[in-house]
Amino acid sequence: SGILLRVGRGCAAGLSYSLSQVSAARQKHTLPDLMYDYGALQPHICAEIMQLHHSKHHATYVNNLNVTEEKYHEALAKGDVTAQVALQPALKFNGGGHINHTIFWSNLSPNGGGEPQGELMEAIKRDFGSFQSMKDRMSAATVAVQGSGWGWLGFNKDSGRLRIAACANQDPLQGTTGLIPLLGIDVWEHAYYLQYKNVRPDYVKAIWNVINWENVSDRLKAAHK
Ligand SMILES: *[C@@H]1O[C@H](CO)[C@@H](O)[C@H](O)[C@H]1NC(C)=O
Ligand SMILES: *[C@@H]1O[C@H](CO)[C@@H](O)[C@H](O)[C@H]1NC(C)=O
Ligand SMILES: *[C@@H]1O[C@H](CO)[C@@H](O)[C@H](O)[C@H]1NC(C)=O
Ligand SMILES: [Fe+2]
Repeated sequence: SGILLRVGRGCAAGLSYSLSQVSAARQKHTLPDLMYDYGALQPHICAEIMQLHHSKHHATYVNNLNVTEEKYHEALAKGDVTAQVALQPALKFNGGGHINHTIFWSNLSPNGGGEPQGELMEAIKRDFGSFQSMKDRMSAATVAVQGSGWGWLGFNKDSGRLRIAACANQDPLQGTTGLIPLLGIDVWEHAYYLQYKNVRPDYVKAIWNVINWENVSDRLKAAHK
């Protein structure tokens, strides 16, 4: 049940996640707390970026999701299908923004960086040859996103393999293969401009120093279930 948010055209692979909470529950969504301080990822991501990104950008997605969801339930109660359909893009945009950022914060840690362990490392070696080669490929795909967008490392449940997907914001939210998100890199300008200006590759290079591989591993384990 719920809306399946699919993302994919123009992406290396589709990405899907369930928006069941978004459509099914009437409770409002809230901005999740970060597990670390705004300044904790310095020097790789400055405090000012983290504060704006979390307390303004992410909060706006949550607010707009709450508002859109309210309108959606009104349309549902009235049986107004036209209005329901018209609200889908806003639901997907704000719901997607909320989900993407919630994953992103948990993918980062002041104690991050280094290399993944265990099953995740095995899977990376199997599917990309080496950890370095996965990083190189994900960096290249993420840097190359046109305009705003995200780079993702995801798990394809059908093939049991890891895949890299890079999606521009403009991409329609439809996919072919479901890819469970494990690690996301936000390359909207709000994620790096204050510190890196227009030099997106430097930001993408730096972010590997704060990747929470334990979280990515947890997500891979959960994806198997
Ligand atoms: C909706 O989202 C915002 C996110 O910042 C939150 O503060 C608020 O409590 C939520 N609920 C309502 C009723 O807007
Ligand atoms: C969330 O991520 C998907 C996949 O990269 C992307 O297509 C979508 O535009 C993102 N939404 C937002 C609001 O960033
Ligand atoms: C990874 O993120 C998920 C979802 O927020 C959380 O439940 C889990 O505890 C995190 N794991 C680590 C190691 O941070
Ligand atoms: Fe963002």
